[in-house]
Amino acid sequence: MNMIPAVRSLVLGACVGLLIPQLMAAESPREHLSLDANWKFHLGDDWPGAAHLENSGTGSGPAGERFADSDWRVVNVPHDWAIELPFDPTADGGHGFKALGGSFPRNSVGWYRRKFDLPASDSGKRIWLTFDGVYRDAAVWVNGWFVRHHEGGYYPFREDVTDLLRFGGTNTISVRVDATKSEGWFYEGAGIYRHVWLDKTAPIHLTPDSTFITTPEISAKRTTVHLETRLANDSSVATTVSVMATIYGPPNSAPDGSYACGGESPSIVIPAHAATEVAFDVTIPWEARLWSPEKPDLHSAWIRLRAAGETLDDARISFGIRTVGFDATNGFLLNGKHYELYGTCNHQDHAGVGAAIPDALQEFRVKQLKAFGCNAIRTSHNPPTPELLEVCDRLGLLVMDESRLMGSDSENMKKWDDQIRRDRNHASVAIWCIANEQFAVQDTPQAGNVARTMQDYVKQLDPTRPVTYAAPEGNVYRGINSVIEVRGWNYHYGPDVDKYHAEHPGQPNVGTEQASVVGTRGIYTNDRPHGYVAAYDVVWPGWTTTAESWWSFFAERPWLSGGFVWTGFDYRGEPTPYGWPCINSHFGILDTCGFPKDVFYYYQSWWTTNTVLHLLPHWNWPGREGSEILVEAFSNCRQVELFLNGASLGKQEMKPNSKLSWQVKYAPGTLSAKGFDANGQVIAETKVETTGDAAQIQLIPDRKTINADGKDVAVFTVAAVDAQGRVVPVAQNKINFAIAGAGKIIGVGNGDPSCHEPDTFIPKGPVQDIAVNDWRWKLGEFSTRRGQATPEFAPEFDDSSWGTVKKGDLPLKENETAIYRAHVKLTPADLDNPNLQIHFSLIDDNGWVYVNNQRVGESHDWNSQPVFEARNALHAGDNVIAVGVKNDGGAGGLSPEVFVEVVGKPQAAPWSRSLFNGLAQIIVQSTREAGELTLTASSDSLKPATAAVQTQAFAPSPSLP
Ligand code: GAL
Repeated sequence: MNMIPAVRSLVLGACVGLLIPQLMAAESPREHLSLDANWKFHLGDDWPGAAHLENSGTGSGPAGERFADSDWRVVNVPHDWAIELPFDPTADGGHGFKALGGSFPRNSVGWYRRKFDLPASDSGKRIWLTFDGVYRDAAVWVNGWFVRHHEGGYYPFREDVTDLLRFGGTNTISVRVDATKSEGWFYEGAGIYRHVWLDKTAPIHLTPDSTFITTPEISAKRTTVHLETRLANDSSVATTVSVMATIYGPPNSAPDGSYACGGESPSIVIPAHAATEVAFDVTIPWEARLWSPEKPDLHSAWIRLRAAGETLDDARISFGIRTVGFDATNGFLLNGKHYELYGTCNHQDHAGVGAAIPDALQEFRVKQLKAFGCNAIRTSHNPPTPELLEVCDRLGLLVMDESRLMGSDSENMKKWDDQIRRDRNHASVAIWCIANEQFAVQDTPQAGNVARTMQDYVKQLDPTRPVTYAAPEGNVYRGINSVIEVRGWNYHYGPDVDKYHAEHPGQPNVGTEQASVVGTRGIYTNDRPHGYVAAYDVVWPGWTTTAESWWSFFAERPWLSGGFVWTGFDYRGEPTPYGWPCINSHFGILDTCGFPKDVFYYYQSWWTTNTVLHLLPHWNWPGREGSEILVEAFSNCRQVELFLNGASLGKQEMKPNSKLSWQVKYAPGTLSAKGFDANGQVIAETKVETTGDAAQIQLIPDRKTINADGKDVAVFTVAAVDAQGRVVPVAQNKINFAIAGAGKIIGVGNGDPSCHEPDTFIPKGPVQDIAVNDWRWKLGEFSTRRGQATPEFAPEFDDSSWGTVKKGDLPLKENETAIYRAHVKLTPADLDNPNLQIHFSLIDDNGWVYVNNQRVGESHDWNSQPVFEARNALHAGDNVIAVGVKNDGGAGGLSPEVFVEVVGKPQAAPWSRSLFNGLAQIIVQSTREAGELTLTASSDSLKPATAAVQTQAFAPSPSLP
């Protein structure tokens, strides 16, 4: 494709509210279709020879079109198979002790296949396939053509596959995913764990991720919206086009009641097979509503590529009108004013589902973070999924958007380019982070060069946002720190930081990674055998510190901009400070389910304007009567007075950003507190009571109604309460779950960092392999024509005089043909199963396979391990498998390791999970049926609970069946 020079134009912006209904009528041929549903999945690399690179279109085994995948499991993506694997003490603890990686080859490669139809009328369109993220090392085939190898587990990849498709027919996508190697040092999942899309466009179209919307002028009178986009002409006809944009504000944002403004570029000619760039401005002629985490008002642009009065392509892109910047003296600036970053770092991992987080669960997670005042996240240590950014735009959370690796080589720069282009229109994205903790090289001139190259590139693609690096070092101004725009601080605080600032007063700063205090929800003593840590904000690994220490330091220094706590949520892996049996981290302010730990209230006290008063620990300590127990108050009240069973234990003054503590002799009953303001008025009261024994289950969904789109989820909190309805903070009961109606359970968790119970209960069919032994063979001709019988394929044929076949025998010479035969006995019970396939280890080179004289398939790749569906040709009793083999060259024949694989009906395993300190979580997904889903929770010793969620009719986003 040729590039023709960019065209810049400035077009008058005008308020064109009245024009909009007419414009809407013009239909765009673009279709953006979800490919998430109905993938076939197989765990294990049983076809190592499938990837043929010597010739085109020759993918074999599952990479080919005609592969028998009927016994593969049907999954919807996002899908993470690592979550389904057992824990294993010999596995990598950093990654969460899942039986995955180099020592578990059987579990580390997965295959996905999906078929889809295209109507003949799509012929002439361009068709794109986009994977938002596959962990990791993906090889993709379309109709047996190898189209892409993509290693990075966190980056999107896209291919124009138009040439390979069958219009008016069925198409097959095959993906081999190899999660043997890791990229990070934390749980990373395995599989197609983000969305997959198929886009259809006209041959003249907007190129993917090319549109960039900025607002170079924002004033009380007007906002200038600058749009730039790239157009491609994949047709053989030069065409005159223009681009039109309509800007929509948040509801009721225009003073005169109109709701949109529009503008259009001048006409331009795109030559055949060429691309060009177009840029133009639209003016909003009033004071536009600005975006902020507190008021996340979004605008959107509807962009249309037009030719001869017709819309050829369009895109709807939401954006925020706001400015971001970092200042050496005033720290982070949002819309020109100092704005303190109350941030958390987070991995993409949640209880029950691992890395395959449904979109609605992203929203649940963002709400949990906002609940303690978090206003920013760092997508450590990788580019996020687009749906997370979409939620942050909509609900108001700033984002530090991080790359996986630092590097200025072409491959890394291509990934950096993809990440920036994809994410740069998001209102939430406030800063780019080139990398995390490059200990080995960070102070070298080479790392400085690479950082400068990546940073300069940001300035080309997105001059509106600054760049940082998460530096784990103190007063060091070498290598990366000497070139990076915003100095990042991982863990360092104290005099070193002040000294650095004094010596480099012109460089802005941000706390890229702080705290890393460890604590287990509901646990108040360190317990190494169980892998638990006390949740008082008192335990931290050597390189880190407490919430109180880091925050007190940062809060007093606005030039530091605030910072990002390691971490918002617990995640699998990094079981610091322990190892097995602990399988997940303790760093979170929230556990893996998003249940608050006590430190949640420390941050809520100092990061929100709510009045907060929280006491810890719980007050169920039978056997500890008379012993001293450490009691703490997390609060932003000026003074806090503590009471035990009504008797005052003293009033204490709260210093800003601190907490209070008492040693209290335990007696069961009520521990309570009053919080006072500066005038001595009581402004808050709280209590912690000694509860009775757990008596019943409580089941509370986060939402009463979800969408019946097969994607939305309800997150149920499961609790054990006593007879008075109080959550019993020490309850560990095993709870069983059953679901009825329009929903399915997709995962369970409880936040226990040492729990080895399964997160998913996948229905599995029992598998039985029946060996097909005693193969016989003879050189000879056979016919593969339909209607022409070959006597040797018939079951009754007498082959007793034929030769026997031994493993390793390949007796056929070039162009020789032979017939191979064997018998296999099956019972009526075998036949009563849904799947029966015949698996061959080698047919060299060509084979035509007959079962009881019925053709079941053919194979033309000596290097594949062909599989044939045979259920309809097999019967109870004796069966004869006959294979006509033709050798093309070298040695040839059939290898006798053959078996009939019988796969039974999938058995639905009952879902269950133990409570951890009173709580568990169960994630339920809607089906496409509108109605109601009902979840029931039961346990041996507790009164059961049932809760219903309505599933409302909802047009699912366009998708391929
Ligand atoms: C940091 C690192 C994080 C995590 C953390 C644990 O050094 O950047 O990924 O490992 O330590 O404290």
